[in-house]
Amino acid sequence: MRNTVTKILRMKKANKKIVMLTAYDYPFARILDEAQADIVLIGDSLANVALGLDATKKVGMPEMLHHAKAVSRAVKNALVVADMPYSAYQTKPNESVKNAKRFIREANCDAVKIEWFKDCAKVTGKLVKAKIKVMGHVGLTPQTVKKFKVRGSSAIEAKKIIAQAKMFEDEGCFAIVLECIPGEVAKIITKELRIPTIGIGAGKYCDGQVLVSQDFLGLFDRFHPRFVKQYVNLSAQINQAVNSFSREVRTGKFPDAKHSYTMDERELKKI
Ligand code: KIV
Repeated sequence: MRNTVTKILRMKKANKKIVMLTAYDYPFARILDEAQADIVLIGDSLANVALGLDATKKVGMPEMLHHAKAVSRAVKNALVVADMPYSAYQTKPNESVKNAKRFIREANCDAVKIEWFKDCAKVTGKLVKAKIKVMGHVGLTPQTVKKFKVRGSSAIEAKKIIAQAKMFEDEGCFAIVLECIPGEVAKIITKELRIPTIGIGAGKYCDGQVLVSQDFLGLFDRFHPRFVKQYVNLSAQINQAVNSFSREVRTGKFPDAKHSYTMDERELKKI
């Protein structure tokens, strides 16, 4: 059975760190799920790390739903959260409930995530009223960011982010992502909120951590923020495998008998 929002909330109380990772397709989601990630996020980072686009704003409902369905098919144990694309709630807040329900009903997701924007209290309230589980996202919010930089370094900016996080909790979110803010600010938010905080570039005091899978696995090198720790360099390993395959194909070493099918000789003679 998949993790529930109640279980994720209990993890904060029990002081158990929450592990969240992104997935965009079936095989990846299966690996993360079998490796016991607590939450699998279909991030709109899909735009950058899987579709070759230069902004998360450039993916819409069709792309997000398509990938959410693939991920959902694979996940048996983790909580599945889908990022609401920018156009699904920021440009048309009135359509946010209808769009969020598509992630739950059509793609079998358990919850949606939305980033902070000026009308997000209203949108969160509507979603929660419609019984949709919502995860908030404050700090650096990629859908509306103009420049990639740490947020909340000044007291004025930090206070704004703390207030936004509280707003998400008050409107009924079950968790909140804190992106690219000083550890001290994340510590205050984590202490003040009842709901879990999940950090990305927000230091060690959060209740959980998330990374974009392509980043921590070394599959995406177009952008390398300081907060990404690369645990393996899969690009290099894939490159080596491609070189081995190419060499064996070009020299006739592959396919060998072990990887080929044969036919009964008598049958062959009849052809
Ligand atoms: O889109 C995404 O992958 C995200 C994570 C960075 C939290 O929002």
